[in-house]
Formats: sequence, structure tokens, C-alpha cells
Amino acid sequence: MHHTPDGVDDRSAAPLTIAGRTASAALAAVAPGPDDTVLIGGAGGGVGVFAVQLARIAGAQVIGTGAAETADHLRGLGAEPVVYGEGLADRARALAPGGITAAVDLLPGRRRCTSPGLGVPDSRICTIAAQVDGVTAANVASSPPGALEEIAGLVAAGRLRVPLAATFPIEEVRRATAPQADRHVRGKVVIDL
Ligand SMILES: NC(=O)c1ccc[n+]([C@@H]2O[C@H](COP(=O)([O-])OP(=O)(O)OC[C@H]3O[C@@H](n4cnc5c(N)ncnc54)[C@H](OP(=O)(O)O)[C@@H]3O)[C@@H](O)[C@H]2O)c1
Repeated sequence: MHHTPDGVDDRSAAPLTIAGRTASAALAAVAPGPDDTVLIGGAGGGVGVFAVQLARIAGAQVIGTGAAETADHLRGLGAEPVVYGEGLADRARALAPGGITAAVDLLPGRRRCTSPGLGVPDSRICTIAAQVDGVTAANVASSPPGALEEIAGLVAAGRLRVPLAATFPIEEVRRATAPQADRHVRGKVVIDL
């Protein structure tokens, strides 16, 4: 448990410890910079909303995968949206004439965004919910020291948004799990204690 940082409201602080730090860990593994175009799979979800914004803050161009109806949400975070599913590699390549140089895959199992056809070297691919030989798997425990303080500082400074898909009182905790289980949440679901 952590104190809510100064300048950050409780609901915005809640997702930072796990989702925010997981995004930070994934980005640390690929170290995006201004010369990079990063493809982020699952960009509009709980971890993705942070990964997109942190990659943008690092100066990278970001292409984020999502459903067609998620496009505006992704643009609002600073990503260029690309619809997942068959043909993803061609659509992503079309958005990155200089090539995709790094990829952060936030999806579990087989729903990977980093198809081999994109030419991203394994050393610049990171997963958080899938184990792939040769690819770094990041998680909250591998987040860089001070990541939480850094993210909270960005939120307090108004440079990092915390998109909340929904909030529920603790009495409705069972109802709160429904949108999360659906795996099409835009941002985080927060439960008020
Ligand atoms: N949240 C955390 O703190 C955390 C921390 C560590 C690990 N994890 C793990 O990391 C994974 C992602 O977590 P999350 O919380 O970011 O997930 P989430 O909030 O449920 O988001 C899931 C994302 O997957 C996309 N998606 C759904 N169906 C898809 C499909 N068929 N193909 C491609 N993309 C699809 C959704 O996009 P659309 O809505 O546009 O369809 C959405 O952006 C999970 O396995 C989770 O257990 C999560």
C-alpha cells in the first residue's frame, strides 16, 4: 500500500501502483526514444493507457492496436490507432514508413501484436502477459526504481492522464468485475473503499 501522492486524487492514484508501474516496466525493457516507432498491442486497456502515454513522453511515435470503435480513445492518448486482427501487420506498416522499431505486447497468450512480418528485433519486443522465447517479459516487479514516484509526478503535473472506464462502490464489487472480464475496457475500473 502507498499513500496517495500529493497533487493526485485517490481514484487516479489507485491504478498507478500496478498498471502504471507495469507499463513503466514494459517500456524500460525497450527504452523508446524520439527515433522510435513503437507498436503497442492492447493500447487502450488498463496497462496500455499508461504505456502509450509514457512512450509518447519519451518522444516516440506510437501505433496502438484496438477495435475500430477504440480509435478515438487511442488518439486521445497520443497513439495512431490500428485495428487488430487479420492484416494488422500491413496496416501497421502503412502507418510507419520508416519501420516499426519496437513493440510492447500487452496481450495474453496468442493474441500477440508483434507478428514476425514487422521485422522488430526480439531485443526490442516486450511482453507482460505472454512468455515468448528470446523476448523480455516484464511485470510490475521489474519496474525501474522510482517508477511510481515518477509516474505520480507526471500525473500531478498534468502530463499523464489516468483514464477511468468506470468506478464502483465497494458494495458493488461483483458488478465491477464484469467490464474487466470482458477485456474491452478503456482504461481502469476503480473500486471506491
Ligand atoms: N492491469 C494490470 O495492472 C496488469 C498488470 C500486469 C499484467 N496484466 C495482464 O496484462 C494483460 C492486459 O491487461 P490490461 O489490464 O491492460 O487488459 P484490459 O484492460 O482488459 O485491456 C485489454 C485490451 O485488449 C484488447 N483486446 C481485446 N480483445 C482483443 C483481440 N481479440 N485482439 C487484440 N486485442 C484485443 C482490448 O482492445 P479493445 O477494447 O479495443 O478491443 C483492450 O485494449 C492481461 O492479461 C492482464 O492480466 C495486467
